[in-house]
Parts: sequence; C-alpha cells; structure tokens
Amino acid sequence: MGRRLQFNIFRHNPLDPASTPHMQPFIMEELPNMTLFIALNKLREEQDPGLQFEFCCRAAICGACAMVINGKPGLACRTKTVDLPEEINLLPLPFFKLVGDLTVDTGTWFRDMAKRVRSWVHTDKDFDPKAQEERMDNALADEIYELDRCVECGCCVAACGTALMRPDFLGAVALNRVARFMIDPRDQRTDCDYFSVIGSDEGIFGCMGLLGCEDVCPKQIPLQDQLGMIRRKLALAAAKNFLPRFMRS
Ligand code: SF4
Ligand code: SF4
Ligand code: FES
Repeated sequence: MGRRLQFNIFRHNPLDPASTPHMQPFIMEELPNMTLFIALNKLREEQDPGLQFEFCCRAAICGACAMVINGKPGLACRTKTVDLPEEINLLPLPFFKLVGDLTVDTGTWFRDMAKRVRSWVHTDKDFDPKAQEERMDNALADEIYELDRCVECGCCVAACGTALMRPDFLGAVALNRVARFMIDPRDQRTDCDYFSVIGSDEGIFGCMGLLGCEDVCPKQIPLQDQLGMIRRKLALAAAKNFLPRFMRS
C-alpha cells in the first residue's frame, strides 16, 4: 500500500465573480512511479472533473505543466511524488495571467517577449532557395542548440525577484534567447544593436544576479553563464559608444 498523500491545490476561476481564491485539500494513495502529472489526472478523473491544469507532452518538452510545487516552480510531468513529502502544495505560476486553478497564460507573454527581443536571425543576405546550406562548425552548432533547448515553461520568470517586482522585466528566458542570437554567426546584429534591445533595467541591467532562474530551470540551461556574458558585452559596448561622447562634451 502506497503513502497517503494530501494535495492542497489552489482553486480560483477569475471569470466567475462568485469564485474566491482558496486552497482545496484532496487525499490520494500514492502509486509506484507516480508523477504529479499522473496524480493530477487521477484527481480530475476520480474526484473533481472541474480541476484545471495544463499539459500536452508528458515528457518535459512542451513546458505547459509548469506550476509551483511546494514553493518552487517546476514541471508536473517531471516531478515524482516519491521525491516530495506526503503533503504537497500546488499553486499556479505567479507573474503570468491566471486562467483558472493551476493554469496560467504563458503564451501571450512569450509571444510579446519574442517581439520585444526581436527573436529571429537578422541578416541582409537575400535568400537563395537553390544555394547550399551554409556550413557551421559542429561545436558552435552544439553551443547554439544548448541555449535553444528552452521549452518556454516560464519557471525562470516565476522564480525571478526582479520580474515579480516589475512586470516589464524581460527575464532570464529572454536574455538567454538574445544570447543564442549573439553567438549565431548568421545574425549580423552588433553589440550596440543588442544594447538597444536589452541594455536597460527592463533587460540585463535590471537583473540582480541572484540566479533563482538557473536553480529552477527544468532543462538545466546555463543561464548564469549567459547573463554574465551579456552583462560584460553590453557594458563594454556602452563604454565604447558613450564614453567618447562624454569625453567630448
Ligand atoms: S539572476 Fe536575474 S534573471 Fe535570474 S532570477 Fe535573478 S534577477 Fe531574475
Ligand atoms: S530558460 Fe529554463 S526555466 Fe526558463 S522558460 Fe526556458 S526552460 Fe523554462
Ligand atoms: S506536459 Fe509538457 S512539459 Fe510537462
């Protein structure tokens, strides 16, 4: 017989004026190899068909099932109940708009973020569909791929003290996205171009460097290295660009 688990789950429907945010307890027997994803589906099937939570892939690929698990953002499909105590508190990610219970709207924020950081390869070259693909060194392709593994779950933003204080902060996920283009030789933007996109308190200079983001990233993306690299590059770009003007005035 498995452990007797108590789930305390945040419940609220923001569209229903009669709904008030509260925690609802559920009791369930633990099964072998049970993930939170399995537990939540079982709860919905057997105890409350109205329980809202998001999922798609069950394999840490879509990023949809992120929630706050006993105080820490993480993926429900990747978290085993055996690694948690018998009492499990589940809340929706903060920062994002609440849809209902454990479901938040990360999509709108991520679309807006991609526009704000101009998240595509910028090049003046004309596209020639008949030309051979440009070669890229394997090591560099791996380096870019390492940063491209982000599943847009939002955990890093939900764990970020700056993002919780200022909603316009772009967060580690956006800065990691920029870092990905900075090392891509096909992107012709200069450090000054990147400065105009993230060289502000909404971007890299708002980051307090406490690295809650890297601690919770379920894909173990090396966010600390990217934040450090961007800070150094953009500080240098600012010094090169603005100091001469300051000296002349
Ligand atoms: S290091 Fe920067 S981006 Fe990461 S959690 Fe801290 S303030 Fe947010
Ligand atoms: S950087 Fe990590 S925590 Fe942040 S959205 Fe991407 S996968 Fe999630
Ligand atoms: S269901 Fe896709 S990441 Fe968890």
